[in-house]
Amino acid sequence: MDVRSDAVVLFGVTGDLVSKKLFPALYELTRRGRVPSRVIGVARSPWDHQQLVTAARKAVTEAGLDLDEAVFEDLSARMTMLSGDYAAPGTYERLAGALADAERPLFYLAIPPAVFDAVVSGLSGSGLADRGRVVVEKPFGHDLPSSHALNERLTGAFAPESIFRIDHYLGKEPIEGLSLFRFGNRVFEQLWNREHIASIQVTVAEKFGTQGRAGFYDNVGAIRDVLQNHILQVVALLAMEPPADASQEAFQAAEAEVLSQALALSPETTVRGQYEGYRDETGVKPGSQTETFVATRLTIDNDRWAGVPFLLRTGKSMPGTATEVVVEFRPPDTTVYPVAANLLRFRLGKNDGISLSAQVKTPGTEVVAQTVELNADFDSFLEPRREAYERLLDDAMDADHTRFARVAAIEQEWRIVDPILDLTTGVQEYPQGTWGPADGETWH
Ligand code: BG6
Repeated sequence: MDVRSDAVVLFGVTGDLVSKKLFPALYELTRRGRVPSRVIGVARSPWDHQQLVTAARKAVTEAGLDLDEAVFEDLSARMTMLSGDYAAPGTYERLAGALADAERPLFYLAIPPAVFDAVVSGLSGSGLADRGRVVVEKPFGHDLPSSHALNERLTGAFAPESIFRIDHYLGKEPIEGLSLFRFGNRVFEQLWNREHIASIQVTVAEKFGTQGRAGFYDNVGAIRDVLQNHILQVVALLAMEPPADASQEAFQAAEAEVLSQALALSPETTVRGQYEGYRDETGVKPGSQTETFVATRLTIDNDRWAGVPFLLRTGKSMPGTATEVVVEFRPPDTTVYPVAANLLRFRLGKNDGISLSAQVKTPGTEVVAQTVELNADFDSFLEPRREAYERLLDDAMDADHTRFARVAAIEQEWRIVDPILDLTTGVQEYPQGTWGPADGETWH
């Protein structure tokens, strides 16, 4: 393995992603002795060191972590702030000075796509890209052509093995566990096909709205924010053929293969919604058609899945927050007893676990079925799982690509969502705190 990164540079350090995810991740890495000697925050805002440290402290506390002063002190002593214009060469000269003795700095681009170009140019113009690694957030591009262009831009500046395309769902332990569950349990693997499965539903529901990110979100919407990347990655893990072996190459080939067999989504089987009040948020264009909810039906055209709908939905301002997969099995062939179908449910967010609905006899003289849930809450018997961003930052510093998205899969994902991007009509309003527009309930 290549040498571990000895510095982390956070572009966009004053932003939402850094405070919500990256500061808490760096704090946890410090606790485990995995943080590099330098953590440099870069932003246009003229912050000083104290402001940086104050923001990090607030972020760690708000993430609900127990703040240990000694650990935090260790982290803050490694932190420095560098304010400057992303388009000014001087910013990168100062950065190169600060990184003079860093062998493999890791550059994390937590910045809006509009300034990507300036930062990549700055990093390559100053020579920093030659010895650095770069982490790029999803969505990777805005559509298939822009994703190609972004790729060209990055590979023109960084070595291919130094580019890390993040989809943090790949760093979530419960999601990573889907393939182990499938290929590690004979009882389920035998049933994992159209002969036994009636449908698969994937839901990413969030109770909250755009949380002050409406200016960014209005250019993105639920399809680009969650469906194109997080949900389709989950679909790939659920639907892929067994990989040839346990190597990352074999897994990634199997994922890209199954995505290539998925048909492009159709506006006819897609419902888009927007929560009431969204258009009043700061940064939202008047009359915006951006969806905050989408429900759609994906078809995978191969022997295993022909005829099995993958029902995918995500939305903001829903009644609750949950990331879930429900596998609905076909009812038994015999009609001896009237029974409900078995449902296998994977809870993939906080409070993760698995449950299976089974048919059992209702107490009494008659033999009548009733459904019980066989439920496993992983918190009660597994060690605490590490947060996705902590794992992924750690991996990127080690140049480990296992849990990062690959170009082949990303391009398939853009192909799949392409027909439902940027629709200019048809977004339906829904009251906040509901499961989206009424049509969303019956979209399949
Ligand atoms: C991000 C999206 O990628 O994922 C957010 O930009 C969304 O809009 C978030 O809230 C959900 O991630 P998690 O880990 O909270 O399920």
